[in-house]
Amino acid sequence: MKPSNRVLDGQRFILSCFFFIIFLCILASINEVRFDSLLKFGQCAFSPGPHNSSASPLIEPNTISLPPPSSSEIRILIGILTLPDHYHKRHFLRMIYGTQSPIGARVDVKFVFCNLTKEDQKVLVALEIMRYDDIIILDCRENMNNGKTYTYFSSLPEMFLSNESNSQYPPYHYVVKGDDDVYFRLQNLVDSLAPLPRQDLYYGYVIPCPSMDPFVHYMSGMGYLVSWDIVEWLAESDIPKKHLEGPEDKIFGDWLREGRRGKNRYNAKWAMYNYPEPPTRCTHELWPDTIAVHLLKTQEKWIRTLNYFNVTRDLKPSKLYHIS
Ligand SMILES: *[C@@H]1O[C@H](CO)[C@@H](O)[C@H](O)[C@H]1NC(C)=O
Ligand SMILES: *[C@@H]1O[C@H](CO)[C@@H](O)[C@H](O)[C@H]1NC(C)=O
Ligand SMILES: *[C@@H]1O[C@H](CO)[C@@H](O)[C@H](O)[C@H]1NC(C)=O
Ligand SMILES: *[C@@H]1O[C@H](CO)[C@@H](O)[C@H](O)[C@H]1NC(C)=O
Repeated sequence: MKPSNRVLDGQRFILSCFFFIIFLCILASINEVRFDSLLKFGQCAFSPGPHNSSASPLIEPNTISLPPPSSSEIRILIGILTLPDHYHKRHFLRMIYGTQSPIGARVDVKFVFCNLTKEDQKVLVALEIMRYDDIIILDCRENMNNGKTYTYFSSLPEMFLSNESNSQYPPYHYVVKGDDDVYFRLQNLVDSLAPLPRQDLYYGYVIPCPSMDPFVHYMSGMGYLVSWDIVEWLAESDIPKKHLEGPEDKIFGDWLREGRRGKNRYNAKWAMYNYPEPPTRCTHELWPDTIAVHLLKTQEKWIRTLNYFNVTRDLKPSKLYHIS
């Protein structure tokens, strides 16, 4: 090899090293960007901080297989008080909630009623449980304002607390009592809960309707929520046991006042409201920032509500059907 060739080779070597280093730098910076966005995504999707649903993450949640860290995931039980014979209502509500998959929370919707009383129920409800496992049967006789709500809340600790060491505590951070004529929008519910305390919380639509003060007087029976510590208190305290008769939502508020519970309160009005027709002081127009709409007593009202919130917009196109 001639000396000049050797010099040329050396220069080439230095040059290629130089480009290689530049290449490494570019690679590193790309990775950093990727890592950053992943980090940001992780924060938006899983952090307990306020979750802004309009600021959607860069990556669709179902394209990523990271399991959400269970420590920051909110666990919510929604118990919908209904009657054993309301099969169609349960079928409908299963579709309503089965098609929502909120980010940042695990939401279990369960239907709650008292003892079965008919032979056909024992077959049909048992089949539902085998298929869906979303039913809670309390030890009570059906009643509305005679302690069913108390039986519901006070039965939960024994139902869900086990001494298996791998079970999480609390089994649910929050427990909702809801009516079967309410439509909950789960992502908005979860987002509203993210910044709130997980202890001693009483959340809902405060009654009377014009009031915006969550301490005056109580949360409407359309759907209210308490933290797990209050559920445990309800199960242990003598205060509710002495006072079971009356409108369930009002006496629930009375128990908390007498027991000095629910120091943290959140009035979700006007994200929760009664269906706009007929207008009263408790109604509100349908609007995007909605957590719950109440008094959906007819199919027509449900359809108008579901249409307003575009719930079927994401239906996948297919050769198998056409819906225009
Ligand atoms: C959510 O984000 C949007 C746009 O980034 C902003 O306009 C809106 O005020 C945010 N909402 C909340 C509740 O932070
Ligand atoms: C409900 O059913 C259970 C089991 O059959 C029974 O032990 C209980 O007494 C019933 N409760 C009421 C209030 O009827
Ligand atoms: C849980 O603990 C109680 C009392 O310590 C005991 O009677 C019960 O059998 C335990 N249950 C299970 C599932 O281990
Ligand atoms: C439903 O979709 C329409 C048409 O795309 C849009 O204008 C409207 O804002 C959507 N409504 C809600 C509540 O997201």
